[in-house]
Amino acid sequence: MRDGVWAAPGRVNLIGEHTDYNDGFVMPFALPHTTVLTAARRDDGVLRLHSADAGGGPVELRVGDLAPGRGPGGWTDYPAGVVWALREAGHAAGGADLHYESTIPTGAGLSSSAALEVVTALALNDLYELGLERQRMARLCRRAENVYVGAPTGIMDQTASACCTAGHALHLDTRDLSQRQIPFDPAALGLELLIVDTRVKHAHSDGEYGKRRAGCEAGAATLGVAALRDVPYEDLARALNRLDDPRVRALVRHVVTEDHRVERVIGLLRAGQARAMGPVLTEGHASLRDDFRVSCPELDLVVGTALAAGALGARMTGGGFGGSAIVLTDVPTTPTVTKSVLEAFASAGHAEPRIFTATPSRGATRLS
Ligand code: GLA
Repeated sequence: MRDGVWAAPGRVNLIGEHTDYNDGFVMPFALPHTTVLTAARRDDGVLRLHSADAGGGPVELRVGDLAPGRGPGGWTDYPAGVVWALREAGHAAGGADLHYESTIPTGAGLSSSAALEVVTALALNDLYELGLERQRMARLCRRAENVYVGAPTGIMDQTASACCTAGHALHLDTRDLSQRQIPFDPAALGLELLIVDTRVKHAHSDGEYGKRRAGCEAGAATLGVAALRDVPYEDLARALNRLDDPRVRALVRHVVTEDHRVERVIGLLRAGQARAMGPVLTEGHASLRDDFRVSCPELDLVVGTALAAGALGARMTGGGFGGSAIVLTDVPTTPTVTKSVLEAFASAGHAEPRIFTATPSRGATRLS
């Protein structure tokens, strides 16, 4: 297969947070921001990795030597992990020259790492004619992240980057990985979905994400279900009564109500009532802040300020502990909301947040 150029987008999650490792539902869409990979096959078993953004010279690794825990650390672990995961699963991926360039803000909760993984899988799939489906690639990318990089994330980000389509949000059932593309075009509805990157750096591998995940698993075990997805919303009160640990109870309450919020948002979008999803997003934020405890003062400030300035709804998005919030506005109120958030950050002495409009965009693709 000839050499070429591939792109994979970052994502933002509309609703369904911390549900993907509980076999639940998520609803991300792809951003116009992408990681672009120029790749050429090489037959000497060497992986030569270079990033225009990371600084530093190229890193060379031998594909036969790749193993979890043996990587040099840093950004190259993501693509190297993908090559390892492909080979471990029996796919004959070999060496390549890989040059990356990205417009996805890093550390902003917008899945720059998933894009890096997915674009690598896509290119190697073509270069070595592996014949893999996108969902399969997404699963191998998650394996790279979980095992090679060592971050215990779910399947949402990689699936979003690989499988989203323009003008849609992706309704993904993270248990059976079935997907539905839900039409979502804010501009056509007179709405705007803003992303506010607080510039507070988040890190999943720092243990907090893993603690939440372990707490959810403990809750499921006590309730005798395979995953919290199996607790029906209607049975929530009864389930909570069976949990003694207040921290586990709060985690369970978040996950079960969040799965329900995904259903509510889908119902509203299908009924042509997108404006009405604002309060559902805001409820999701309160749940992540108070029950799941993954927000931070800067994210809470975005949400509080945006709502006070007339936004329809707002919430943190992604793993939390920093990163970005989303804000749903009627187009005419966007300037007031933006100005208020910028002023609130300035008077609190925080760094200026980056604010931009999110347009549901296409998933990973070959450019040339
Ligand atoms: C991170 C993870 C995802 C998901 C979100 C929270 O983005 O990579 O798998 O768990 O956090 O919804």
